[in-house]
Amino acid sequence: MEQSVENVLITREEINQKVKNIGQIISEDYKGREIYVLSLLRGSFIFAADLVREINLQTRIGFMTTSSYGNEEVSAGSVKIINDIPDKISGLDVLIVDDIIDTGITMDFVYKHVKALGASSIKICTLLDKPDRRLANIHPDYCCFKIPDVFVVGYGLNFGDYYRNVPYIFNWK
Ligand code: IMP
Ligand code: MG
Repeated sequence: MEQSVENVLITREEINQKVKNIGQIISEDYKGREIYVLSLLRGSFIFAADLVREINLQTRIGFMTTSSYGNEEVSAGSVKIINDIPDKISGLDVLIVDDIIDTGITMDFVYKHVKALGASSIKICTLLDKPDRRLANIHPDYCCFKIPDVFVVGYGLNFGDYYRNVPYIFNWK
């Protein structure tokens, strides 16, 4: 079955250009150091895959899965670890990568977890930032696009576990 998609919000070209740009900035900021990219699944898998290929540093990559929202649109407000970080990260410079920061509850949880595991520095990189609904005190260090309070899908972001493979970002409604 084909996926019919309307309301394109951010095109593939815009994403490619911005991801390249953010990758260059990260490479400059961490120059001469090694980073550990922590990609949060499942939402950030496409973004992280594109981003790390634009980062010119010694880079290790790990994945972590946290529980997603019950109905995917409203935060349950509590986060659980489904699959934890597979590596020892104490003393490492960790860059947490996610698809979108909405309430910030997920990122706040992951940030505190990474901190408790002894990372020597932690920065946050998000594809999308939806600051209107923020509940936690979270501010990304790197953000590709700030968006208004609309539900968006594509480029890793899902609705009902579909549309992650759409290569651009569109408004769901
Ligand atoms: P937060 O904990 O409220 O910041 O939510 C972060 C998670 O909510 C993201 O990793 C997404 O899985 C999901 N999410 C929030 N807004 C959207 C959206 O507009 N589209 C798809 N998923 C979203
Ligand atoms: Mg997610």
